[in-house]
Amino acid sequence: MCGIFGCISEEALEKILDGLKRLEYRGYDSVGIAIINNNEIIIRKNKGKLNEFIENLDLNNIKSNIGIGHTRWATHGAPSKENAHPHTDCSGRIAIVHNGVLENFLQLREELIKKGHKFSSKTDSEIIAHLIEDFVNSGLSFKEAIKNTFKILKGSIACAIISTMEPNKIICYRRESPLVIGISNKGVFCASDIPALLPYTKNIAVVPEDKIVILEENKVHAEDLNGEICKLEYNEIPWNLELAEKSGYPHFMIKEIFEQPRAISDTLKIPLIYIDRAIEYLENKKVYLTGSGTSYHACLFGSYLASHLLSMDMRPIISSEFIETLSLFDNSTVIAISQSGETADTLNAIRYAKSKGAKIIGITNTLGSSITNLSDVYICTQSGPEIGVAATKTFLTQLISIILLFLRFGLKKGKINEIDYNKLIDEVNNIPKITEEILKKSDKIRDIALKYSLKQNAYFLARGINLVTALEGALKLKEISYIHAEGYPAGESKHGPISLIEPGFLCVFIAPRDNTREKIIGNIMEMKARGAEIFSIITEGDEEIKEISDEYFEVPFVNYILYPILCTIPLQLFAYYTAVFKGLDPDRPRNLAKSVTVP
Ligand code: F6R
Repeated sequence: MCGIFGCISEEALEKILDGLKRLEYRGYDSVGIAIINNNEIIIRKNKGKLNEFIENLDLNNIKSNIGIGHTRWATHGAPSKENAHPHTDCSGRIAIVHNGVLENFLQLREELIKKGHKFSSKTDSEIIAHLIEDFVNSGLSFKEAIKNTFKILKGSIACAIISTMEPNKIICYRRESPLVIGISNKGVFCASDIPALLPYTKNIAVVPEDKIVILEENKVHAEDLNGEICKLEYNEIPWNLELAEKSGYPHFMIKEIFEQPRAISDTLKIPLIYIDRAIEYLENKKVYLTGSGTSYHACLFGSYLASHLLSMDMRPIISSEFIETLSLFDNSTVIAISQSGETADTLNAIRYAKSKGAKIIGITNTLGSSITNLSDVYICTQSGPEIGVAATKTFLTQLISIILLFLRFGLKKGKINEIDYNKLIDEVNNIPKITEEILKKSDKIRDIALKYSLKQNAYFLARGINLVTALEGALKLKEISYIHAEGYPAGESKHGPISLIEPGFLCVFIAPRDNTREKIIGNIMEMKARGAEIFSIITEGDEEIKEISDEYFEVPFVNYILYPILCTIPLQLFAYYTAVFKGLDPDRPRNLAKSVTVP
């Protein structure tokens, strides 16, 4: 939820600010930095976005080669200067930045207050600095004090600490929340996510669970809380810097929408060995799918696909409801989907399922994320970094991964014959080309978005597998344009929602040429008869639906299982352009953050 960046390098401050810029998608309600200069910790922090913070930064050319920074998404304590990180101990000798949630901070805070500690914020995080101080005051070394602090703190933690006691070090710790380390001839770095490190190095290691990592000039050292040294595993990240920059686009979201042909094409090249390893966990199993938000929509897609292609019932369950919903896990596998691999609700569902003996197939876009550590086997989608808060390219690559997994499973189990398999694979391989063609028509969607951008409400209606698209289209529109939008099964709309329809109410229908089409035409007519404005996503040349729609967008004819991929693209564009016409920032919608690491 929050972004952490730290470095030991020349011109550390500039690098910290650049790093925070690349992490701002993780939280943007307040920001702060701490640097060490002349053995003194200098802190600047404030409520608001990074740009304003930089404009008002009064550091009078103070130079430093070591520091940490933080961009916040508030959990404990409202967005304010006091609650912004970094936080310090009473003496001002220790500064910390933290991402995660501390579960036992209230009780510990009371104990520390009784001992005389003075707290300046309402955050859970500040306690880290005071606990370290307390252990140091009791005679422990700085490092041992840090270890003892993390031994008693419960909850999720990614943390970077600097201190005038050891002014040449940044000490990091990680449990459940993400943290990566990079080292090169440009310096040593830590950050919440890989894109922040790409200007300096592609040689990146994930901080292992429950370990501290000590950064010093040109060296990095890791150990567990009992002092056992551990090896960091560095990987050469194949992403280039361009993938993490806007490259001429006005926003990350539109850049990422236009990257989809490439992202799909790369995901189609996932080595079969990964798919085959996952298949082993589907055989003779009861299978559930779980995810949150857009990733849940991918689960729903998986459930329809399993029923249609494999004649298997796979139940999709929203991650935050998972524990409340399931109790029996006899011979089960859970397919857990999360682009970030760090969503707390999804990780909790995984841990619960594992504790009951279920096997986990993870689908994520983030190698080294918690989901890859917790899964028995995982598939990594190849979207490249997604910076815009609204999921776009990662969603389509999740759908592609599920198709690859189920098609191959179907072939191996004799549920799909070789001729049908090859035909479908040919069609899937053609998807990058088709998505390029759809994107060439983005102007048409821009015009439609302009026409409807002042609407207050919208229904997104569909049947069968296209419900996935309706739900996703509604989520995209509501989260970045703040228009009240609901995705609904079209057949169900008669059972209540239709009472809201009055002249001018916007109804978006996902109505491609498949076996849902005849019934959808009936639903369009019902809404039209009550004065609704109809915008339909249709298959090319469907004159009948064009006739009854106020606006339409055509996608090429494909096998019906592929329509959710094609039909989602115009709705992503629709949400994007609507937000832009309303003067909103689609990359940073209010109250949201890219990875939701609180349950
Ligand atoms: C919507 C969106 C969110 C995420 C959800 C799960 O555009 O981005 O709904 O899909 O927070 O995130 P991941 O996939 O990282 O688990």
